Parts: sequence; structure tokens; C-alpha cells
Amino acid sequence: MRIAIIGTGYVGLITGACLAEVGHQVICIDIDEVKIKALRAGKIPIYEPGLDEMVHRNVSVRRLAFSTSVDEGVDISEVIVIAVPTPPHTDGSVDLTYIERVAREIADSLKQYRVIVDKSTVPVKTGEKVADTIRRYNRAGVEFDVVSNPEFLREGSALTDLMEPDRIVIGCNSERALSIMKSVYAPFSAPIMVTDVNSAELIKHAANSFLALKISYINALSAICEASGADIDKVADGIGADKRIGRSFLNAGLGYGGSCFPKDVAAFISISEQIGEPFNLLKEVQRINRFQRVRFVRRLRDALWVLKEKRIAVWGLTFKPDTDDVRNSVALDLINDLIQEGARVAAYDPKGNEKVQKLNLCPGVHLASSALNAVQGAEALVLATEWPDFTSVDFAEVHRQMHTPIVFDGRNLLDPNTMRDLGFQYYSIGRPLSKASRNGPADRIIPIDLGIRSKYTRRKLRDEVAQRSR
Ligand SMILES: NC(=O)c1ccc[n+]([C@@H]2O[C@H](COP(=O)([O-])OP(=O)(O)OC[C@H]3O[C@@H](n4cnc5c(N)ncnc54)[C@H](O)[C@@H]3O)[C@@H](O)[C@H]2O)c1
Repeated sequence: MRIAIIGTGYVGLITGACLAEVGHQVICIDIDEVKIKALRAGKIPIYEPGLDEMVHRNVSVRRLAFSTSVDEGVDISEVIVIAVPTPPHTDGSVDLTYIERVAREIADSLKQYRVIVDKSTVPVKTGEKVADTIRRYNRAGVEFDVVSNPEFLREGSALTDLMEPDRIVIGCNSERALSIMKSVYAPFSAPIMVTDVNSAELIKHAANSFLALKISYINALSAICEASGADIDKVADGIGADKRIGRSFLNAGLGYGGSCFPKDVAAFISISEQIGEPFNLLKEVQRINRFQRVRFVRRLRDALWVLKEKRIAVWGLTFKPDTDDVRNSVALDLINDLIQEGARVAAYDPKGNEKVQKLNLCPGVHLASSALNAVQGAEALVLATEWPDFTSVDFAEVHRQMHTPIVFDGRNLLDPNTMRDLGFQYYSIGRPLSKASRNGPADRIIPIDLGIRSKYTRRKLRDEVAQRSR
């Protein structure tokens, strides 16, 4: 089939490459001329494992092309996929101006029946608005259908997620459009779930909010583990073994970030309020997520006493491993918290340095050229993104390079016993301190980590939590 994709970002480019890979004729369109020029010259603007090769392979057999013209795409393609941004307004509601603009552009170019597929994450009932807009602006009264086909890919494993999805959701109110959509997805051996347009739109926000909820649930539990001396990994294994719950998304850490979860949870809260059914549970999910970082910085402060002038190394800038995406990354928020308190931060990421530098996302940070470079003379190392690369660093050398061998693992990536054996004072999320570190200067914070908190500390904590939830 001939397919046009409008918006050649993470979703648009990866979807375009995968649809070409299974044999469709795809044209990826973007408003950004520099990006399209680069793609035409063979330069891939994002890092996603395997994407480079897949794009080049399909360009070379002429199944994948790039353009800046919506008109060209609508003219030659039976299916038009919308994959433009849906960023949040400051109040959390979704900015739909990109979608509306594309709808008008499609309407201007529409000369014969087309299926318009919304792949961007949008509030329920957006499909109806897109259809109204196209009807209003297309004076020729050409027939078309609007379909919702939400995307569930995860950056870092996007190619596998697209080629072997758990399910394909097609929200469609017309048999004609449904049969075309089934042809688009015929080469994929995944279950197709057909719903109405509104339900498909809702599925995406509901799915992402549920995953965020799972993360906040385990993070809230990690605080309880720290206060009671229990081990979050064992607790997560214990509850995750229950098939009704499942182990995935139960890894305690610094909280969720990225371009999707924070904005989609905020959007779902806003949508629920707009339709008069406020989903307040999700506000607690947001609060726990924010507080997880605050709690982590407080523990770091407890260990180092004063953060001002401390040399702190941070490993990880991207919001998750195997991507160069730093949008809404918790690692960046954390670095900016530390810099704000006067710490001297040296950071390193296998793929994220360039974007942080180019967009000046952490003013004052020193971007190191390697993980080992970042830790030179550091008084503490913070692990903020769980890149597997960090597990293979020579930690004996890290120990030698650091001024004081204190490690704060914000993603529970490292093994506490190994770190202890190497002589580190090692702190992680929701896991008891390993025994050897009791002999070091970290002794001071053991009562806090093991939950033998004074009444004063506990009350202070409770007040802080109550204040944040207001
Ligand atoms: N990134 C993800 O992991 C992911 C996963 C699932 C769903 N989504 C959703 O998919 C949508 C796109 O996300 P993304 O991460 O790919 O965004 P992105 O910012 O990486 O890409 C969007 C692209 O659209 C282009 N664009 C904007 N206006 C345009 C126009 N009028 N015509 C043509 N191109 C235009 C931009 O230049 C950009 O290249 C969002 O709604 C997002 O929530 C994202």
C-alpha cells in the first residue's frame, strides 16, 4: 500500500521504516526542512538501535522516501498517518494546534478518498474534531475516514515493538477504512483489536497512565522499604510473581520521565476534569513521582551534609537507556537540582551528551567524554539512567579515580554486595544498606535508611508529604 506519514520524529520515522520494511511504499513528511534534507542525505536524526540500517535498506530499494510536501503525500498515498507532536500546555491539557494544522493541510490537498490515521497521542474525541476540520476546509466535499491507531512503541526497543507488537488497536467507525487498515497491518502477525474511534483514543491514555501508576506504586513502596528495612527487589519479585500483577514496570528508581508518561498522565487528568469525571488517583501518581527525586536528593544531602561545592559525577542523561532522547529526563532534573544547590556536576551519557550540550539543558554542568572521566575527583557518583554500559565500567578504577567512593544508584542497576566488596559506600532505592558500609562515614545515615527514624524526622517527613499533596 502507499502510505504517507506526516511528522517524521521518533514515532513517524520509526513507523515509516517498519511499514516500508514489510513491503509498503512509504513517504515520510516533515515541516522541518533541515531534517528532511539530512534524511535524504542518509543522516538519521535520532538514535534508536537498528533504525539506521532499516532506513538505509528501505531507501535503497525505493520503498522509503522523504518530503516536506503534505500535498505530495496526500496525492500519492491511500493512507495518511498523522504523527506530529501533542505537547502539554502549562495546565497539563494537550496542545492540539499541530494536529489541527495538519488536518487543515490534508483538507487542502484532498482530491479523492483517503484514510486519515491518527497515531499521535490525543484526547478522546479528537478524531471527531479532525473529521469536522477536514470536512470544513475541504470545499470539494471529498469522502474520507478518520481512524485512531495509537502507538505503543518504547524508545530503545521501538523496532521490535513495532514489528512484533502485543496488539494493534484500530479505532474505526467505517468498514471501508477498516478493510484498508487491515491490509496495512496484514504483514504483521499481531492481534488486531478493532474498536470505535473514541475507545482507541482512550486506550492510549489509559495504558500510559496505568504504567505510570505501576511505577509510582513501586516507588511509594520503596520508601516504605527504606523506612522498614525491607528489600524492594524482593518485594517486587514477590508481588510480581502473581500473574494478575506481573513483574514488569515494578522496578524502583528515580521515577518516570520522557516525552510520554509525564505529559500523558497530565493530559488524562485534564481530560477527566473536562468531561466532569476527575481522575484524582493520577494526581497522587504524579506527586509520588515528583517526591521520589526529592527524597533521593535529600538522602544524598544526608550523606554529604552540604551539597554546595561538592564534586558530583552523574552517569546518565537520557530518560531511559538505548535512546538519545532527553525530553523530560529525570536525570536532567536531578542535575539541575544539584547545580541549584551549588554542587559541581560532571555528567556523562553514552548518547545524550550532544543534545544536552546543544540545547543547554543543564547550564553549568561539565559534560565528560567517558564514564571514568566524569568520576575523576568526585565526592559522590550518582547513577541516574540504567544504561547497561555502566555495569561494565571498571569499578576498581572508578574507586581509584574518586575522591570519596560514595555511590548513589538511582536505578538499582548495580549489585550491592559487589559494590561493598569493592569498598564503596553504596546507596540504592528501597534496598537495605550492605553491611560493610556501616563502618564508613556513611554510618550517619544508616538510621534514616533503615527506618529507625526519630519521631521528629518522621513527623517532618509526613508534613512534607502532606504539604506536597496539597
Ligand atoms: N516518542 C514516543 O515514544 C511515542 C510513543 C508513542 C506515541 N507517541 C506520540 O506520538 C506523537 C509524536 O511523538 P514523537 O516523539 O514522534 O514527536 P517528535 O517531536 O519526535 O516528532 C514530531 C515531528 O513532527 C514534525 N511536525 C510538526 N508539525 C508538523 C507539520 N505541520 N507537518 C509535518 N511535520 C510536522 C516535527 O518537525 C517533528 O519532526 C506524540 O503525540 C506522542 O505523544 C510518542
